[in-house]
Amino acid sequence: MPDGTKLTRIPTLRTVADFRKHVAALGLDLPCEDSIVTGADSPLAQPVNSVTINGKTIGNRIAIQPMEGWDGTTSGGLTEEMRRRWQRFGESGAKLICGAEAMAVRPDGRANPNQLIIIEENKAGLAELRQILMNAHQQRYGSTEDLVIGFQLTHSGRFCKPEDKSRMEPRVAYRHPILDKKFNVTSDTQIFSDSEIEQLIEKYIEAAKIAWDVGADFVDIKHCHGYLLHEFLSALTRPGKYGGSFENRTRVLREIVSGIRASGNKIDLAVRLSAFDLVPFKPDPTLSLPGKPGPGIPEDFSPCLPYRYAFGVDQNNPLEYDLTETFQFAELCAEVGIKILNLSAGSPYYNPHIQRPAVYPPSDGYQPPEDPLVGVARQINVVRKVKESVARLQGYKVTSVQNDPQVTLQPCNHVTFAPIIVGSAYSYLQEYLPHVAQAVVRHGWTDMIGLGRMVLSYPNVFPDALERGTLNPKAICRTFSDCTTAPRNGLISGCYPLDKYYASKPEAQKLKEIKRGLP
Ligand SMILES: Cc1cc2nc3c(=O)[nH]c(=O)nc-3n(C[C@H](O)[C@H](O)[C@H](O)COP(=O)(O)O)c2cc1C
Ligand code: SF4
Repeated sequence: MPDGTKLTRIPTLRTVADFRKHVAALGLDLPCEDSIVTGADSPLAQPVNSVTINGKTIGNRIAIQPMEGWDGTTSGGLTEEMRRRWQRFGESGAKLICGAEAMAVRPDGRANPNQLIIIEENKAGLAELRQILMNAHQQRYGSTEDLVIGFQLTHSGRFCKPEDKSRMEPRVAYRHPILDKKFNVTSDTQIFSDSEIEQLIEKYIEAAKIAWDVGADFVDIKHCHGYLLHEFLSALTRPGKYGGSFENRTRVLREIVSGIRASGNKIDLAVRLSAFDLVPFKPDPTLSLPGKPGPGIPEDFSPCLPYRYAFGVDQNNPLEYDLTETFQFAELCAEVGIKILNLSAGSPYYNPHIQRPAVYPPSDGYQPPEDPLVGVARQINVVRKVKESVARLQGYKVTSVQNDPQVTLQPCNHVTFAPIIVGSAYSYLQEYLPHVAQAVVRHGWTDMIGLGRMVLSYPNVFPDALERGTLNPKAICRTFSDCTTAPRNGLISGCYPLDKYYASKPEAQKLKEIKRGLP
């Protein structure tokens, strides 16, 4: 830790009491139940009754978060690794599949040459993936009536590497005073023009049609992690109809939604949003050693104040978030009929500690500048605030499952429903993930618990919690970050440390060498 104190590792906290003591010592607001509740009484086993998706009620409170693939063919076709991943998602018991993995709406918008592309030519493959997931779920749980599957639609913007894993081909919404250097943005020609954006919007509309044709229940119009549409939300310095005012910066979303509806496509809609952001971080050069980056420190933002280059940030102190526009955006989502608002934070490329809290950094990251539990609690508390804000829109109640007191909020008539809220960044909780997840759902702080890394290492986490009331410590994700380090170095992603399937691949050896600093 930057202050020289030793990080307390979660597995060393033997009991719930130890965990709570640690949370209290960090001064965090993080509720935690005494034990894992099994069976139908678990708050996590309750259906989501507030909104239906494609006519279905989501059968429980567990969502699988999207996790980009680096393992397709270069034309966006399927491979065994992909099929296996989708099968495991189906077996996980989660009743909401929030995109499964990001799919580029056109080839040049890929973050890597092996990412899925959602275009006509790949329809059969996408249908196959969905069917694999459905079959796996049906086989294990006997029904798919309450299983809801979406596809995440993306253009990778600043992080595009569509043709070659080592060649950045960024396209951006605006020039960024800090990120341009890091991501090879050197010319204004890399900025999307308004007419290019109009063409791109058409691709989102076409992709939504393909998703509907192959049986997806919804599409997620990705607005997170610094990718293109997230960047538009902070395009304060961009001139023209897609920049400047809040109305202009959200025009892309509104035009995609109205285009999908005008095309007659009835598919339901979701948005994944980085609800807040901070400035980019870097390893402290004075404390970095070869193969061991120093603790994260903010990039020098002093020449950039007021900081007008991130969404959901305090412009005068960009080390703090500001949710004013986040609430406004959530309200807009409700107004245009977005049914699922899946909340995340920041970006894995420039401030990973707020996005996916971890003890061990990825190779392009830095040692944690704070206890990763702080990052988990930050996201959980922001999700709570956003949920309260959308609930207010309709005189909705902050619904608690089971017996907690319900809070009645102000009525408001212009929205017909409040979107289902999904939270992120639970994996670092490890042994205590179910205890915290139960508590936040029971208190109504979120509707659903989104799981990312934990299901890569441990797809059985939810069935084990629900059926046995205990977790398998050997399968719990320990946030080693290999699933990020591998693709950052041109290898396929996967849980190399804990999933034997990856541990036995030749890539595992290569990854070891990369981590040891060998060429
Ligand atoms: C390997 C990997 C790939 C990811 N790809 C995506 C993606 O394609 N789209 C997205 O919205 N989030 C992506 N994420 C972020 C996760 O959805 C999630 O927000 C993050 O891992 C934090 O949740 P966790 O603590 O449960 O892992 C990815 C995360 C990982 C580890
Ligand atoms: S490589 Fe495995 S243990 Fe490490 S963060 Fe990814 S899923 Fe977790």
